[in-house]
Formats: sequence, structure tokens, C-alpha cells
Amino acid sequence: MPVQKIAVIGGGTMGSGISLTAATHGIQAVVVDINEDQLERAKKYHIKQIDRSVEKERLSKEEGDIALEKLNYVSTMQEANDADWVVEAATENIDIKKSIFIQMAKNFGENVVLATNTSSISITDLAAAVQGAEHRVIGMHFFNPVPIMKLVEVIKGNKTSEETTLATLQLSESMGKIPVPANDFAGFVSNRVLMPMINEAFHAWSDGVARPEDIDSIMKLGCAFPMGPLRLADYIGLDVCKDIMMVMYNGLDENPKYLPNKKLTELVDAGHLGDKSGQGVYTYANG
Ligand code: 3HC
Repeated sequence: MPVQKIAVIGGGTMGSGISLTAATHGIQAVVVDINEDQLERAKKYHIKQIDRSVEKERLSKEEGDIALEKLNYVSTMQEANDADWVVEAATENIDIKKSIFIQMAKNFGENVVLATNTSSISITDLAAAVQGAEHRVIGMHFFNPVPIMKLVEVIKGNKTSEETTLATLQLSESMGKIPVPANDFAGFVSNRVLMPMINEAFHAWSDGVARPEDIDSIMKLGCAFPMGPLRLADYIGLDVCKDIMMVMYNGLDENPKYLPNKKLTELVDAGHLGDKSGQGVYTYANG
């Protein structure tokens, strides 16, 4: 039976994007976040994007209203426990994610798939937090901005069932996405390839090979990237980039090629996280 209602744990950039995409594809979506401000931001983002889609005639006014009605915002998992699918989209930290998974297993029905939007953490390690439910745990890695990017990277843990995998492929397609499998190695495929490239762009900047704007222009104009690597790092969040590099460093035999660049680390330590803090590699007016 197709998924009727998704609970999305975390109302940040990824959680907002996943819930919006579900709602515009006819699936009820409830955003769960203990932070009221985050819920408010998610709601504002949803309204703005749906208005934009109506304005651009991608949705009729009626379809826009229906999508908005499908979205709900709550601060506890209990208030969302009638969902038949749950996607965790919280901070990229294994301890935080494990404690959320324990709550998910307690709050949602015993047949509900427990998906994670982790960008780098081992699915098998996360699943170990919910013994007896490991077969329902799967990686469902979306890309930012979720409504636009076509990919869902699908990662099975060592105990993920075929039924869970099949259901994940079906749900991804019903959300208008193209699911592609990757094995359970730190960073999977997407970030194993993307993050060292971003990190290398920081090395090129640190070594004085070129200014940030020139590094970005070179990669945009010469390699047809929609955004240069340093601009993309700000867009993703410099803290997220650093965290993913560290997950790969720790998860891939402490290979020094995965150590985050010093300048990247310094910016993160100074609270310059990119778009979300108004300052990263570049400065952003009004955030
Ligand atoms: N939500 C919804 N729609 C959005 C959006 C968002 N956050 N951001 C942009 N859009 C829409 C715009 O509204 C616009 O649609 P329109 O036709 O209604 O105007 C359309 O996307 C194009 O946007 P813009 O004209 O403003 O700008 P661009 O043409 O430069 O596109 C971009 C913006 C889609 C973000 C493009 O620059 C891009 O593809 N950048 C690369 C993004 C990327 O690489 N993402 C992956 C990051 S890695 C990741 O997420 C994995 C994680 O694990 C780290």
C-alpha cells in the first residue's frame, strides 16, 4: 500500500525540503522539531515555495492549497505517531541520530520504515541502536534543494530487508525522485566524491592558487558546475562539510586525505558556517 503519511524528524533545510516534496506529491507530511523557531521557518519556507509554484503555474491554486493542507508541524514524535513512514533529518552526529532512532522505534508502529537522511554515517551503525528493528532501517539520502534535485541515494545496512528496500525505491519514485543504490561506506558515493573536491578547493585557496571567486568561476565555466565548490560549501554549510570529512576520516581507516582543510576548520570554529550564518567563504547580505 502506498505511503500515506510521512513524519520528518527535523525541520531544518533538508527536513523542510523532504516534507515539501512529499506534500506536493500527494503525501501527508508532518514535520517534527523540538525547536519552535525551526518549525516556524519550515512553515514559512513551505508557504513561500508553494506560492512560487502556483505563480509559475507548476501547481494550480487548488493543488497548492491541497499541498499546504497536507503539511503539519509538531514538537513531539508522539503527535506524529500515526505516520506510516519516518525519515530522520537531524544534525549529522551519530550520537544524536542514535538517540533519535531509539525514540523513533518507540513511537512509531512496528511495520513503519525508519529511514535516515544521513549524508555519511553508517546505516549499520545507526541500526544497531534499535535492536529488533534493524530490518526497517535504511538510508534515504536526499540532496539540497530537495524539491529540485532528482537523486535519492539509497543505502542498505547489513540487516535491511528487501521489503524495506523495495518500499524505499517506490516511495522515492512517488516523490518524483530517482533512487540510486550505494553501499554502506562512510560518505557513500555522493559525499565520497563531492567532499574531497570541496576540501581540495579550500586547499587551493589556502595555498594561494587563486581567490575563492576565481576558483568558483574556473569550476563553473570550465567544468559546467552550477555552483563553484566554495560557493557550494557555503550553501551546504561549512560545519556539515567538516563533519562529513571527519566521518569519512574516522570511517575510512583514518586516511589523512579525508582530514578537513585548516581554513575550513577555522571558519567553522569562528561560527562562519556559510549561507545560514550570513558569513562563510563569502559574506551574504541579510543572511
Ligand atoms: N527550494 C525550492 N526551490 C528552489 C530552491 C529551494 N531551496 N532553491 C532554488 N529553487 C528553485 C528556484 O525557485 C528556481 O525555480 P523558478 O523556476 O521558480 O525560478 C530554480 O530552483 C532555479 O533557481 P535560481 O534561478 O534561483 O538559481 P539557479 O538556477 O542557480 O539554481 C540551484 C539554484 C538549483 C541551487 C543550482 O545552483 C544548483 O543546482 N546548485 C548545486 C546544488 C547542489 O549541488 N546540491 C547538492 C549539494 S550536496 C547535498 O545536498 C548532499 C549533502 O549530503 C551534503
